[in-house]
Amino acid sequence: MQCAVLEIRDLTYRIGERSILREVSLEAREGETVVLLGRSGCGKTTLLKCVNGLLPPASGEIRFQGRTLSEWDPISLRRRIGYVIQDAGLFPHWTVAANIGLVPKLEKWEPGAIAARVDLLLDTVGLPPAQFARRHPHELSGGQKQRVGIARALAAEPPLLLLDEPFAALDPITRYELQRQFVSLLRATASGSGKAALFVTHDVREALLLATRIVLLKDGMIDVMASPGEFLSARTEEARAFLSGLDTPQHESAPGF
Ligand SMILES: Nc1ncnc2c1ncn2[C@@H]1O[C@H](COP(=O)(O)OP(=O)(O)O)[C@@H](O)[C@H]1O
Ligand SMILES: [Mg+2]
Repeated sequence: MQCAVLEIRDLTYRIGERSILREVSLEAREGETVVLLGRSGCGKTTLLKCVNGLLPPASGEIRFQGRTLSEWDPISLRRRIGYVIQDAGLFPHWTVAANIGLVPKLEKWEPGAIAARVDLLLDTVGLPPAQFARRHPHELSGGQKQRVGIARALAAEPPLLLLDEPFAALDPITRYELQRQFVSLLRATASGSGKAALFVTHDVREALLLATRIVLLKDGMIDVMASPGEFLSARTEEARAFLSGLDTPQHESAPGF
């Protein structure tokens, strides 16, 4: 049995009287990519923010590496969780290298080790360091910014990656390239590495491509939790609504969908 990197039990989050998340329980074991799938407004971002300690749940428990969030110092918690958001959120006045090296620097790595790590990560995400390390974010395309955002999230080898619709704003070809690359990156993170990812999307194709497990959220509650293969035959109304989108052909650059 692989260990759970993240365990969420009966998580409820409220804004005033309104429950944004209701009794959500899930876990991400090492080697897993759990995809949170759901319509806009169903509570996906709220769930990621609870996991990262940015929002306090009304009830329930979140454990990261076996310890509840309240047992973690918030700063060390965040340094152990890589977070990727839709617009990458890079520091505009910092070079690509400085952006990627942020957490290793905070963790007081040697400068040589940081530089080596930055070069390795840039190569991993398909940006040759000689060309990209010294650029600033405004000198990058949207897809290149997202690549840097992913490299930055991976920099200090965090046990958990949280990704909030990281490819949603990209054009279809770039999105497909990044999805494929991300799959190989995840596959390289074999079980036994102690690492897991929680990936948010509203795109069922993306969920099927990336997930080891799909968690479909509806109105703040879990509607379906299934492997991608099982999800294809899920019978709930919400699952059928998502799956019916698969009948519509997507961009021709995405063979196999
Ligand atoms: N700061 C806020 N104040 C009031 N309502 C909010 C706030 N943030 C999120 N919500 C509501 O919480 C629900 C879930 O939001 P969110 O987690 O951002 O959804 P998703 O990421 O799935 O699109 C939405 O209905 C949204 O309107
Ligand atoms: Mg969101």
